[in-house]
Amino acid sequence: MAILPIITAPDRRLKVKSTPVEIVDDKVRKILDDMLATMYQAPGIGLSAVQVGIPKCLITVDVSPDDEENTPLYLINPEITEYSEELESYNEGCLSLPEQFADLDRPGAITVQYLDYFGELRRLRAEGLLSRCIQHEMDHLKGRLFVDHLSTVKRGIILRKLDKAKRQKVMA
Ligand code: NI
Repeated sequence: MAILPIITAPDRRLKVKSTPVEIVDDKVRKILDDMLATMYQAPGIGLSAVQVGIPKCLITVDVSPDDEENTPLYLINPEITEYSEELESYNEGCLSLPEQFADLDRPGAITVQYLDYFGELRRLRAEGLLSRCIQHEMDHLKGRLFVDHLSTVKRGIILRKLDKAKRQKVMA
């Protein structure tokens, strides 16, 4: 398994809309394996393929607590078929927006349909952190970051901070 470099904002590649996977084969599973390893290494609880420069509808998620066994989830071509009416607020972060967080309202529960690691069609009802994480990763597939849910002013502040941090890194 390879650890892949994670693209950080601001970057045009994060705005690309991902395309569905046609066949779930070993090539796709290799990407998922690398994504999971990259996500654990970061460490993070979710990763979309577009964050490692592959604009395909692939997501890895694992929201299990640190002191418990890993429970990785692979979602291929996910589609949300149901949203709960009630919203929940959560302080969200993103591996592509290092050290940046913001409170964001999202539906508390969802039903998501997807193909699993072996290409089998699955349906999952998710709540809490899992629901939050899947919605966040699915935004990535549409070229959206969590800051795109914020006001222009708040988004600008965060993106400028990241841009500055990037430029300092290049100079160092
Ligand atoms: Ni993210």
